Amino acid sequence: MICKVLLSLLVLGAARAADPATGIYNIGVGRYDITGPAAGVNMMGYVNPAPINDGIHIRLFARAFIIDDDTNRFVFVNTDLGMATQLVKMTVVERLKILYGGIYTTENVIISGTHTHSGPAGYIQYLLYQVPSLGFIDQAYESIVYGIVESIIQAHNSITTGRLYYSSGELLNANINRSPSAYLNNPEEERAKYQYDTDKTMTLLKFVAEDGTDLGMVNWFAVHPTSMNKTNTLVSGDNKGYAEQLFEKAMDPGSLAGKGKFVGAFAQSNCGDVSPNTDGPKCQDTGLACDILTSTCGGRVKLCYAAGPGKDMEESTEIFGTRQFEKAVELYNDPNAVQVIGPVQIIGQQLDMSNYTVTLANGTATQTCRPALGFSFAAGATDGPGVFDFTQGMTEDNPFWTKIVNFVVETDPEQIVCHHPKPILLETGNYHRPYEWTSDIVETQVARVGQFVIAAVPGEFTTMSGRRMRDQLSSVFAEEGVPGIVPVIAGLSNVYTHYITTFEEYAIQRYEGASTIFGPHTLEAYMQHYTMLARAMLRGKAIPPGPAPPNLLKDQISLVRENVYDSTPFDYAFGDVLAQPYPVVYPGETVIVKFVSAHPRNDPLLGGSFLTVERQADDGSWEVIATDADWETKYSWQRTSTLLGTSVATVKWDVPEDTTNGTFRISHTGHAKFMGGTIQSFLGVTEPFFVALPDRNSTEFINLPREKPDDTPATNNIGNLLSYVMSLVM
Ligand SMILES: *[C@@H]1O[C@H](CO)[C@@H](O)[C@H](O)[C@H]1NC(C)=O
Ligand SMILES: *[C@@H]1O[C@H](CO)[C@@H](O)[C@H](O)[C@H]1NC(C)=O
Ligand SMILES: *[C@@H]1O[C@H](CO)[C@@H](O)[C@H](O)[C@H]1NC(C)=O
Ligand SMILES: *[C@@H]1O[C@H](CO)[C@@H](O)[C@H](O)[C@H]1NC(C)=O
Ligand SMILES: *[C@@H]1O[C@H](CO)[C@@H](O)[C@H](O)[C@H]1NC(C)=O
Repeated sequence: MICKVLLSLLVLGAARAADPATGIYNIGVGRYDITGPAAGVNMMGYVNPAPINDGIHIRLFARAFIIDDDTNRFVFVNTDLGMATQLVKMTVVERLKILYGGIYTTENVIISGTHTHSGPAGYIQYLLYQVPSLGFIDQAYESIVYGIVESIIQAHNSITTGRLYYSSGELLNANINRSPSAYLNNPEEERAKYQYDTDKTMTLLKFVAEDGTDLGMVNWFAVHPTSMNKTNTLVSGDNKGYAEQLFEKAMDPGSLAGKGKFVGAFAQSNCGDVSPNTDGPKCQDTGLACDILTSTCGGRVKLCYAAGPGKDMEESTEIFGTRQFEKAVELYNDPNAVQVIGPVQIIGQQLDMSNYTVTLANGTATQTCRPALGFSFAAGATDGPGVFDFTQGMTEDNPFWTKIVNFVVETDPEQIVCHHPKPILLETGNYHRPYEWTSDIVETQVARVGQFVIAAVPGEFTTMSGRRMRDQLSSVFAEEGVPGIVPVIAGLSNVYTHYITTFEEYAIQRYEGASTIFGPHTLEAYMQHYTMLARAMLRGKAIPPGPAPPNLLKDQISLVRENVYDSTPFDYAFGDVLAQPYPVVYPGETVIVKFVSAHPRNDPLLGGSFLTVERQADDGSWEVIATDADWETKYSWQRTSTLLGTSVATVKWDVPEDTTNGTFRISHTGHAKFMGGTIQSFLGVTEPFFVALPDRNSTEFINLPREKPDDTPATNNIGNLLSYVMSLVM
């Protein structure tokens, strides 16, 4: 031991005192904004061009957690994104290399996505994901890279010695299986081992400094963040994003969302077939259950969709965010939480999944397939049914679409056999124009700290796929002399390759099976590969990094128009208030104000806010009590005239029930772009207003005007025309 300490002092040149044998590690946590463009871009997740964002409900964050034992280190970064991606990871690692030399590498940085469906799209370098977003969106990509790097810098700078604890427990009433017919195709004796058809276990890792300070927490629980459905247009971290801010605020009372010291992440696990819409799929026309095999109503997918228990999607998000938050609090405070003891190790490798040799259980060797999506992919899932009238469970070709696709490139007959019984809709692995449609190169990683093991997987494992992988890792670790591990699947890590079902689920070809892009033996290939990784890691055997994925950044096409210019209606300035708040409001009411505004893409205000809610202190100064990251505010932005470049920002504040009486005001900030391209910031502030404690029976309260003031800005009058002409002359 003394030798080892001396050795690490020599190697690292700094006196630190991690001691994995007694559970003392170097740990650090960090967080930064990754929201990106707040308006005018498609949102990632529903494979649908319709949701174009127009504001922010809650901001998206990257949360980084460093664990180091003086010998090895890894950083786990949870991002409120649809998924982690290859290009983002490559660039993050490049930038970390400039800052820290070789400390952070492809192998020891894990980036995982929560899978929210309400974040800006366009940050994946492969074409398939850019179809709905009309190409690559540089501002989304840059914001994500910047924020992730910043979160790791913060974590790095906060490293201190401390301890880790884990605890797990069941959370019922927060998820259902959205493809039960596929799940039922798994062997009966396997299903009999489990009480439920989704995982109900939340597993939590707690970070505490040696002096007892609470530093952070990550938990893994499998559920799609699709409480906000595809009609939502405000950026949101969905149920997990809301749970994160609830937890962080509980640990730092009075802090603004995303600004407290404590860092709490709600990470994604094997959510492939797991929906938060626990009321189940219903035919929206009749209210009856949809057809269970095909998720259709009268043969069509469009009318079959699932919803949560809330009165609307926002309330469902609130309900599931709160349930995950409450379970996490319970696990965080669990007096029986187990202290993590043992070494830090990590291993990773890139592999070509388009032709990976798998040895099946019966000894037969077979190959995975080139990426291809089946017809049921286009049907979508019941959390957001597809735009075409494909049905789930299709195993016969739809000749119309086959024709259109074949017009591009003929489907390779060998691949038809390889993917059987999946009828191929898009053989993306065979489309290379104008650049690659999907990735053949896939990143795989296993990390451990003591008995806690993280398998970072490149997509969405279904419930049973995740169970098989965890069991496999448990036996491999036990065989290698590390029994009793606590394995978690970190879903949607590093690169996105859609779904991973079991072989049996694949046969049913629901959305998840159709989206298992490397063919029927994808899961077996990963189980074989992760077994190899775990053994090599535990035996301290070096493995080659594998084939480098391509960097397609310079090839990216974007059809999303930049904002050209902004202007104001005649006689108005940017930031002018178009609708003032009521002079007196009560807790529980919503304040709505409007401002003359400009396109938020002029500056996404990364790390900042488009709005503030401020409270006047006794000395007359104003204190910010909420920003656009907070759940109780909403910032939305509307173009009122594309020709004139005029726009309006609306700020809503739901006055929390526990607000005490006082004087408040709301501000809006943004950046306007002038003809010629100059960008200038502006600020608008409302009149002060009072939050009064209600005497709801008083005549004064009852007689308060309740209808909202007229807030339509004048945009079509002569004055506007004049301001337009003037802006042309200027
Ligand atoms: C989305 O949720 C809203 C309620 O917030 C509901 O009115 C609408 O029908 C839902 N749409 C879909 C496609 O799920
Ligand atoms: C796939 O790999 C196998 C075995 O390594 C090889 O025989 C075969 O030619 C490869 N196929 C393709 C299409 O690369
Ligand atoms: C092994 O299993 C695969 C997949 O179930 C099957 O296609 C193959 O025929 C089997 N081979 C033998 C030798 O049984
Ligand atoms: C809040 O209301 C109480 C009771 O009416 C009053 O005494 C106090 O001055 C008010 N506080 C503020 C900040 O307005
Ligand atoms: C207000 O009025 C309701 C109904 O008339 C009554 O039940 C309640 O007690 C009153 N509250 C107060 C604070 O007077």
